[in-house]
Amino acid sequence: MWTYQKAHYAGQKAHYAGLLLILTLTLTALTMPAQADGAGAIAYRKAVMSSVGGHLKAIVGILKGQGGDKVHLLAHAESLAALAVITQDAFPLGSDAAAGKTDAAARIWEKPQDFKRATDAFISETAALAAAAKTGDLRAFGKQLGVVGKVGCKGCHSAFRSK
Ligand code: HEC
Repeated sequence: MWTYQKAHYAGQKAHYAGLLLILTLTLTALTMPAQADGAGAIAYRKAVMSSVGGHLKAIVGILKGQGGDKVHLLAHAESLAALAVITQDAFPLGSDAAAGKTDAAARIWEKPQDFKRATDAFISETAALAAAAKTGDLRAFGKQLGVVGKVGCKGCHSAFRSK
């Protein structure tokens, strides 16, 4: 019995040590700034942009009556506004074509002030879209969606995305 308990205890000890190690590693990974390499930053940026594209597609589908529901418009608009804020952090130095396959133009890093104007416009126009969604005024919403598309998406893509 004693030997069994001892062996059991040793096994548990090893088990807890293993758990502790995993916990420590996880906490370390969470608290340390990730070693974000350029390729990782590009993948992150594409994921963010794909999400932006997804919300826009969803909104258009709702407005055309193809699917979804008008009550979803606010959530999509607020998601776009939140992603627009993230966009300004999605182009760190070292995430250009030298780091991996990307359509982000070199101009982003060559003309940072111009690029900041593009992200600022995206942030303010998507915020206005979310505000329009809150009023429930579909005409105003549709009009502002046009502005987001033209000033936001197209404005930035034509200047800073090489395709
Ligand atoms: C401030 C600039 C900027 C704004 C605003 C912007 N984009 Fe982009 N977008 C880019 C750049 C640059 C890329 C290329 C990213 C890359 O390849 O690293 C891109 C890529 C994309 C992609 C392709 C993602 C992939 O997987 O390669 C989609 C889809 C997209 N954008 C949709 C949109 C839509 C829709 C809007 C507006 C609602 C928008 N973007 C607004 C700069 C912008």
